[in-house]
Amino acid sequence: MAIILITGAKGQLGNELKIVSQKYYGYDFIFTDIDSLDISDPVKTNKYIKNTRPDWIVNCAAYTQVDKAESDYQTALLVNGIAVKNISDSIKDSTCRFIHISSDYVYDGNSNIPYSESSQTNPLSAYGRSKLEGEKAALLHPGSMIIRTSWLYSSFGSNFVKNNDQVGK
Ligand SMILES: NC(=O)c1ccc[n+]([C@@H]2O[C@H](COP(=O)([O-])OP(=O)(O)OC[C@H]3O[C@@H](n4cnc5c(N)ncnc54)[C@H](OP(=O)(O)O)[C@@H]3O)[C@@H](O)[C@H]2O)c1
Repeated sequence: MAIILITGAKGQLGNELKIVSQKYYGYDFIFTDIDSLDISDPVKTNKYIKNTRPDWIVNCAAYTQVDKAESDYQTALLVNGIAVKNISDSIKDSTCRFIHISSDYVYDGNSNIPYSESSQTNPLSAYGRSKLEGEKAALLHPGSMIIRTSWLYSSFGSNFVKNNDQVGK
């Protein structure tokens, strides 16, 4: 049975994946968050991943406070960049596939044409720079893929669908 390890599972995306996972039999999902797997700790991350031997890792863990990252770049970089390298290092030489979630903040937003995967990155914010570092760290592992999204919305947490008081006006 394929083992799928989810990090940051108490966040918005992780909670949605918990619901989705109930429809998928034949997979062994392991949901973790900072209390059970702090991905910024290289030793614990390596030990946890070596013990559980996942076939897939979906990294939903992140520092997502975009504005706060400007004054707290070290923490943003730790969680969004260095911790991703901890995962990559832990699956080095394995066949584990790694899905990492990134952001449109890696672009500068000045393009007049739609962005493609190969478009030049040029983050303008601390959050964007930390997410770009995470992308580079994820790509150290050949079995990695990166999903860049602009928004997430769900029934959990705070998002533009739940917070938009302009809807319906
Ligand atoms: N939300 C959006 O609109 C949006 C848009 C574009 C891209 N994204 C990306 O999509 C992904 C998921 O976003 P989200 O909205 O689901 O994020 P979220 O709700 O903020 O969830 C992130 C989770 O990661 C946990 N976490 C923080 N540090 C950790 C660590 N060191 N080890 C393990 N877990 C840790 C957080 O715990 P604490 O709450 O205790 O810190 C939280 O449970 C992120 O990569 C984000 O950058 C999100």
